Amino acid sequence: MTAYDAIILGAGAAGLMAAMAAGQRGRRVLLLDHGAEAGAKILISGGGRCNFTNRETEPARFFSENPHFARSALSRYTQHDFLALVERHRIAWHEKTLGQLFCDGSARAIVAMLLAECEAAGVDLRLRHRITDVSRADGFRVETDRGAFTAPALVLATGGLSIPKLGATGLSLDIARRFGLPVVEPRPALVPLTFGEDWLPLMRPIAGVSLPIEARLGRDRFREAMLFTHRGLSGPAILQISTPWRAGEAITLDLLPDRDAAALLRERKRDRPKAGIGTVLGEVLPSRLAAALAAHRFAHLTRPVGELPDKALLAVAGMLKGLSITPMGSEGYAKAEVMAGGVSTDALSSRSMEAKAVPGLHVTGEAVDVTGWLGGYNFQWAWSSGWCAGQSV
Ligand code: FDA
Repeated sequence: MTAYDAIILGAGAAGLMAAMAAGQRGRRVLLLDHGAEAGAKILISGGGRCNFTNRETEPARFFSENPHFARSALSRYTQHDFLALVERHRIAWHEKTLGQLFCDGSARAIVAMLLAECEAAGVDLRLRHRITDVSRADGFRVETDRGAFTAPALVLATGGLSIPKLGATGLSLDIARRFGLPVVEPRPALVPLTFGEDWLPLMRPIAGVSLPIEARLGRDRFREAMLFTHRGLSGPAILQISTPWRAGEAITLDLLPDRDAAALLRERKRDRPKAGIGTVLGEVLPSRLAAALAAHRFAHLTRPVGELPDKALLAVAGMLKGLSITPMGSEGYAKAEVMAGGVSTDALSSRSMEAKAVPGLHVTGEAVDVTGWLGGYNFQWAWSSGWCAGQSV
């Protein structure tokens, strides 16, 4: 039986990076995955072009019970390091908005790059291996449907629970729990939010309408696009705010983030006194949304703006700038881009991702309670945390 220095479970973003980094240090690495293909989520990411990192990566763009935890790994293997790797492989890329870096061509180039690096580093990649048990006696022992393997180090890199149809499982969380590591309750994140009958009659008929907004929750605020859907709200601003959101909480939407709504309504009362509220709102909002708001939320304002009291106009302005709405739920793991929560950072070394109480056991990527903003941050976390584990095993 081959003697390995490390076994890595999961050949996704973090696992491939950990395997590459460990292999380059001369470690004999076994990389196991139950799927037929490595990097399945990389392949479908970023609409097939993989938003592989973000130029503006910094710890403040990650959610975690310990907001400082990501700092060490993100500074040991940075977005610039990953970009340098991409450039060494001559993969053409471009920057979209907000520092987001995408492949010009297919995401397949990123997977091919990581596989080539792993191969050059002598990594033993084995796909289609179902993991049936993991135990620890003298080192770690991994049982699969195609044999058992042992090594003194084990890296958990099987990701999170989002998109089960792509093969997502909670294996890393299960193994971590079995070794006594605490787990922050996992939940779907970067996910569309659903609404009940208080809002759906307004939202459903305007599914497809989008506009720039600012979504707020506590101290978090995201100024990006929002999209109405048949079941509620989506678009980058909503996906972003879904990560800190907890069931039962209200979120606040500024529908006119670049305008002083009160001043606008005061001006229209003066210079277009005969216009209805829907017409005035149609000047600054998508016309279907303006009509829906006029019909569902401002139906009591039947008179033209010139005849409305200032108090009524101020109430309209207040609602446009700070609409407080409570989602009923989310579209769940089937539609979530990531899982938030995961293995508690309390249990891990921020430098090596090694469990403090279980020498040799490492946890990386989405399985850790570190969740990035939308925009390439989650891959960067996978690269950084995987690389750190690869330096440690
Ligand atoms: P990842 O999911 O990549 O890998 C886990 C691996 O473990 C998989 O290969 C899986 O088959 C394997 N595995 C799971 N359970 C197993 C088991 N029981 N036994 C054996 N193997 C098992 N992020 C970003 O930064 N930019 C983007 O553009 C996108 N786009 C995007 C689109 C979509 C549709 C989704 C769902 C997600 C994204 N993401 C993203 C998020 C990003 O894909 C995600 O955060 C990383 O892939 C996480 O890397 P990991 O290596 O932790 O898990």
